[in-house]
Amino acid sequence: MKFSEEFEQRFAEMVRQYPTKRSALVPTLLYAQDEIGFLSDEVIAEIAVRLDLTELEVRNVISYYSMLTTQPRGKFNVQVCTNISCMVRGGEEILEHCSKNLGIGHKGTTPDGLFSLEEVECIGACSWAPAAQVNYDFHENLTPDKIDRVLEAYRKSGKQ
Ligand code: FES
Repeated sequence: MKFSEEFEQRFAEMVRQYPTKRSALVPTLLYAQDEIGFLSDEVIAEIAVRLDLTELEVRNVISYYSMLTTQPRGKFNVQVCTNISCMVRGGEEILEHCSKNLGIGHKGTTPDGLFSLEEVECIGACSWAPAAQVNYDFHENLTPDKIDRVLEAYRKSGKQ
């Protein structure tokens, strides 16, 4: 398993900084996912060895965090929150609207590989509900029109 030089530098730095190797697990998974696109069996096995963990321990952590995935996703992963604050302010309508706009449902990926869609629990943006996260960017106080504009901007940037 070969990662980039940048990944190796970050990994070496994290292992130096954290008191135990295990503490570097989540950031290591995120960096690996950013680089490879998803956490394949090969990536999981490699990270488990590097951090002195079992593959099961690594998989248990992956299954806990919605931002980590063992399946390939679209270039832009649209995560719409429908938890309580977002729900009372129209989060479910935003999810439905995204589903119509993209033509895919929960955990679906568009045929061109550009978008994935996911319904998620609270993403910590309750004060600005309803909210969604696309990769690492937050979009808040959403309306159907606003999410259409957001998706269109990603669509354009993804085709460049
Ligand atoms: S409930 Fe949606 S961001 Fe917290």
